[in-house]
Amino acid sequence: MQWRIVVTRSIPEAALEELRSVGEVHVCEQDRPLRAEELHEAVRGAHAIVSMVHDRIDGAVVDAAGPQLRVVANVAVGYDNVDVDALAQRDIAVTNTPGVLADATADLAFGLLLMLTRRLGEGERLLRSRTPWSWHMSFMLGTGLQGKTLGVVGLGRIGQAVAHRARAFGMEITYTGRNRVDPDVETALGARYVSLEQLLDEADAVSLHCPLTEATRHLVDETALERMKSSAVLVNTSRGPVVDEQALARALGRRSIAGAALDVFEHEPTVQPDLLDLDNVVVVPHLGSATTETRTAMAVLAARNVTGVLAGAGAHTPIGA
Ligand code: NDP
Ligand code: DGY
Repeated sequence: MQWRIVVTRSIPEAALEELRSVGEVHVCEQDRPLRAEELHEAVRGAHAIVSMVHDRIDGAVVDAAGPQLRVVANVAVGYDNVDVDALAQRDIAVTNTPGVLADATADLAFGLLLMLTRRLGEGERLLRSRTPWSWHMSFMLGTGLQGKTLGVVGLGRIGQAVAHRARAFGMEITYTGRNRVDPDVETALGARYVSLEQLLDEADAVSLHCPLTEATRHLVDETALERMKSSAVLVNTSRGPVVDEQALARALGRRSIAGAALDVFEHEPTVQPDLLDLDNVVVVPHLGSATTETRTAMAVLAARNVTGVLAGAGAHTPIGA
């Protein structure tokens, strides 16, 4: 059997080699997010689809592919772009890329926290605007992290990696989630399980690491933002819609929280213009996993998931397992 494998956007060569070892690989030549009709056209006849975070993979895509489709391998740990139920009903395996990107994403989340609390974006903009400046005792003062509390929403793989970094910076950790983590993990991180409300009330920095689900959509809304201390900052490297972006822009504008650092946006790739006008905001374009090593590891894992399923051996990292 010659498998037809459709990859919706270019991926590292190591992953393509893995895929070519089992079938005929078609990489969509547009190399941009495809419109629905383009995606439907591209996947026709596919046995496997390698998808990106910006591809909406739903029943219509699967129907367009045809009944031979066996597996959709999302090159991301988050899979809110995939209608998992629709695919399960058709007996199609869905896979993601957990673990291999946890350190890179945690590095970025912590980098954003430092950028915000030490005003690095503002400082850079000042120099690039060629504004005259001089060192003085109260010039561009930020806030230190030592002794402050980091509130982690979702102490999973990335949340734990962020907490680990925060401990090295002398921070206290609180966390919330649907369940408590293993007591050994709590002990190793010195992490205290609290309600979302308590976390918001107490934290000096809130870092979001939960998946986007119906339960987490707008988890950080007007009410949540009002609970946060006026000196607190928010870091979002999870998914944009976990935060009500309009409420966030209002809260930042009236300084009811001190700042926000965002890697993800509610209507990606659009960034709310109000946010861009605010000095107490750091924005980067969904760079969480964006290192050469990590992107290669993600793509190779996705490719191995495809080859595993097509060979009948099963996926390495199936969703829902
Ligand atoms: P994990 O599954 O390891 O961790 C997710 C955590 O969220 C778990 O601790 C889970 O715990 C918790 N969670 C689930 N539902 C809720 C809820 N309703 N409220 C609070 N917490 C909840 O995933 P990862 O750490 O690997 O990834 C997390 C997310 O980060 C991904 O889903 C993705 O959206 C995002 N991400 C973004 C990247 C970027 O480039 N910016 C890169 C990689 C990931 P429990 O269910 O027990 O509560
Ligand atoms: C993910 O993996 O969910 C990211 O958003 C892309 O790395």
